[in-house]
Amino acid sequence: MTAQLTPRAPEVAPALGAAGNNKKVVLDVRNLKVYYETPSGAVRAVDDVSFQVYEGEILGLVGESGCGKTTTAMAILRMVQPPGRITGGNILLNEVDLVQLEAEDLRNVRWVDLALIPQGAMNSLNPVMRIHVQIGEAIEAHQGKLPKAEMKTRILDLLKMVGLPSRVYEMYPHELSGGMKQRVCIAMAIALHPSLIIADEPTSALDVVVQRVVGWGCKPRWSTASP
Ligand SMILES: Nc1ncnc2c1ncn2[C@@H]1O[C@H](COP(=O)(O)OP(=O)(O)O)[C@@H](O)[C@H]1O
Ligand SMILES: [Mg+2]
Repeated sequence: MTAQLTPRAPEVAPALGAAGNNKKVVLDVRNLKVYYETPSGAVRAVDDVSFQVYEGEILGLVGESGCGKTTTAMAILRMVQPPGRITGGNILLNEVDLVQLEAEDLRNVRWVDLALIPQGAMNSLNPVMRIHVQIGEAIEAHQGKLPKAEMKTRILDLLKMVGLPSRVYEMYPHELSGGMKQRVCIAMAIALHPSLIIADEPTSALDVVVQRVVGWGCKPRWSTASP
């Protein structure tokens, strides 16, 4: 049995950057299916969804609440929680099928090749840690200790990339506006030069003016952030 009232599937909208050219395909999602097994039947949250993301492109998944946007994002990260399960399809990241990967290999791909800015990320910054400590920890978690001066230069560069002034380096989250906090999260996501960044509703907690700044202001810098 299938749950009723399944909202319409999300629309896939290439928001910026042109597809259909000879650019490299970074992400190729093919016929993806993610179902949640519930006592009243399977919820077909994602049912036969296919799309591609090209290098340098920002792709938006748009749709009403409950149509499967978060589930699609979590599936790409292989982070769907039970009773959810990927029941079909392929997720090729740089031609490697994430659906087939074992836990060990997945760990290497996550955060290095693939980064997530979760919904409400800006509220998850540690309130008692200065911004440079938080960004530094994210980098060190994957690359080990770096010389102090090198780390400082790297963090200041990241802040600049997301359009934040250098004084943010020493600040605490409560000293920043919502839009600034969100940019800190973006800085953490691009810190390891991932091939793909997944952002779940990155602007929905921000006012309309700041939404535009986050969306447009970061685009050219994101594109140049990849090696
Ligand atoms: N843990 C779960 N158990 C059962 N159904 C779920 C679970 N998580 C999400 N769903 C269902 O999957 C569908 C898609 O949810 P979601 O991906 O969160 O949508 P969106 O992010 O577009 O709002 C919804 O119908 C939702 O009720
Ligand atoms: Mg969602």
